[in-house]
Amino acid sequence: MSEASEGQVDTVMVEQRLFEPSEDFSRQARIKSMEDYQQLYDRAASDPEAFWAEQAREHLHWFTPFTQTLQWDNPLAKWFIGGTTNACYNCVDAHVAAGRGDQLAILWEGEPGDQRQLTYRQLQEEVSRFAGALKQLGTQPGDVVSIYMPMTPELAIAMLACARIGAVHSVIFAGFSAEAIADRNNDAGAKIQLTSDGLHRRGKVLPLKETVDQALAKSPTVEKCVVLRRVGNDAPMQSGRDHWWHELVDSVEADCPAEPMDSEAPLFILYTSGSTGKPKGIRHTTAGYNLYAKRTFQWVFDHRPDDVYWCTADCGWITGHSYIVYGPLAAGATVLMYEGAPNHPAEDRFWEIVEKYRVTILYTAPTAIRAFIKWGDEHVDGHDLSSLRLLGSVGEGINPEAWMWYHTKIGGGRCPIVDTWWQTETGGIMMSPLPGAIATKPGSCTKPLPGIRPRIVGEDGQNVPQGRGGMLCIDHPWPGMLRGIWGDEQRYQEQYWSKVPGMYLTGDNARQDSDGYYWIMGRIDDVINVSGHRLSTIEVESALVSHPAVAEAAVVGKPDEIKGQAIAAFVTLRTDPNEELRQGLKLHVRQEIGALAQPDDIRFTAALPKTRSGKIMRRLLRDIASGKEQTGDTSTLEDFSVLAKLRDDEE
Ligand code: WTA
Repeated sequence: MSEASEGQVDTVMVEQRLFEPSEDFSRQARIKSMEDYQQLYDRAASDPEAFWAEQAREHLHWFTPFTQTLQWDNPLAKWFIGGTTNACYNCVDAHVAAGRGDQLAILWEGEPGDQRQLTYRQLQEEVSRFAGALKQLGTQPGDVVSIYMPMTPELAIAMLACARIGAVHSVIFAGFSAEAIADRNNDAGAKIQLTSDGLHRRGKVLPLKETVDQALAKSPTVEKCVVLRRVGNDAPMQSGRDHWWHELVDSVEADCPAEPMDSEAPLFILYTSGSTGKPKGIRHTTAGYNLYAKRTFQWVFDHRPDDVYWCTADCGWITGHSYIVYGPLAAGATVLMYEGAPNHPAEDRFWEIVEKYRVTILYTAPTAIRAFIKWGDEHVDGHDLSSLRLLGSVGEGINPEAWMWYHTKIGGGRCPIVDTWWQTETGGIMMSPLPGAIATKPGSCTKPLPGIRPRIVGEDGQNVPQGRGGMLCIDHPWPGMLRGIWGDEQRYQEQYWSKVPGMYLTGDNARQDSDGYYWIMGRIDDVINVSGHRLSTIEVESALVSHPAVAEAAVVGKPDEIKGQAIAAFVTLRTDPNEELRQGLKLHVRQEIGALAQPDDIRFTAALPKTRSGKIMRRLLRDIASGKEQTGDTSTLEDFSVLAKLRDDEE
């Protein structure tokens, strides 16, 4: 291993396993072979505008056709200029109009076990009615509607109803505090608030409306609040401001047609905390986003009409926006939604749901997969998972051993895994195997999707040599890309378009192997510099996770007088901790990937601190490892007790 130059990252991981798509899978797939993929990819790459124009004409409903495909005034992109469409129409009405109104759109299970089903026609009625209710409350096109609701069908209905009348939704995950809601409402200038009386979580009822009331006391722009009855408690209602959902929809006609919206009309804002703490409102618009979510869904999940597709994310995250609502519904899929926790009433809830609904496609996150591994195989055993044909992963890198477990234990060795790399900002999946075409390697997101041109560059903006890690950039606009940061266009320019001129900076590091496969190496800010060697966190973590005693691992750098940085590892175990194991793990990493990557410190912990969307908070761990007071924003921390525990360990 040589010393890395500026901006480059060393790789120490060797992963040789390769899984070809089965003949059965490929035969029935949309994209059947590597040649098919390459052909499609090359066609898109050679003339992206012509490619996307053709996709847009064929796959969206246009009230008025667009006259220009792309206007690119770096970093400002406009797609499908002059056209009008409606995301709700594309997701709902288009299917009814095409005679597919009886197809199931949403299959829903509440945490207590209650169930609902909505066909596309029923969805159209409900969405139309609620859109009418929003209008009756005075909602105008362009108004921001803040949504703080449990994972019920009404959450999707609320999003679609906004899209139907041109209102801009801002969904806030229903675990955030009143403070976090108020911050987001004020930043967005939200006019309407949607919530529910409460939600079910791990057998308890959380009083959402009370949290919202605290938030609204500090959200002066919000004029009206609509409350869905979900749990049936005595939610406090403020007269004049607050309305029950069921009373509103009863008072309006179910006839509120979808408004023709300009292609570039804002569709939603979604706040993401980013590495610098202050949440930023990522702004997505109508036509490009909707098209990108739909096509990537069809390509990556190889969707067929009889699939039962389950994405376990919450609609409070981009994954829920793009791959519960706007992608799958635009594709006419049957989408399963589940309200609650994966371990309620027991650790086998997901497998019970897969078995009950005969789920064919499951899309979940590495953090969940690692939890399942920790909980033990006995919760999976005994459930019939034979309906599954495809598995997906999103949100973080998946450690190869977790990938193998997912493949064998959940997928029965027969289901391809699509490890999908993307971001809130990208709107949809950017790199992923196409399951009928691209052979997979555990831990690699494999290849870019059609129309996406990734580059890996060093500090000088030049491509790094193949095999080396560097900054992952995208060198041509794509329809699903963010159009800006709400209220802060300068930050948009600075954060994404300044460091490497002319290219979108993802903020992740990546490398490409000799087969041209991409490997995400973690955030640029998380690189550990040991004696001049720049190591990526995921590689050391994956080496730790490959030890049978380890459930989950997070590594960070801490200051070291001699080496510059030393490696500190935080590890959760599948067994009881002991000193011998600590030494054993150091040795294991040394054997797996080399002496340089051997952790200097290994600390056992009951759980790792995570953001609410399940990502490990490495910044916080860095502060803890270096003994510094923690300085960054921790409003997204899931479990403060973990922090306390780690701190205690130190004393
Ligand atoms: C990380 C989630 C490795 C990455 C859709 C990215 C991943 C950030 C993967 C975006 C993956 C997401 N492999 N890393 N398959 N998917 N990431 O905005 O660091 O919540 O930049 O969007 O998650 O997170 P976000």
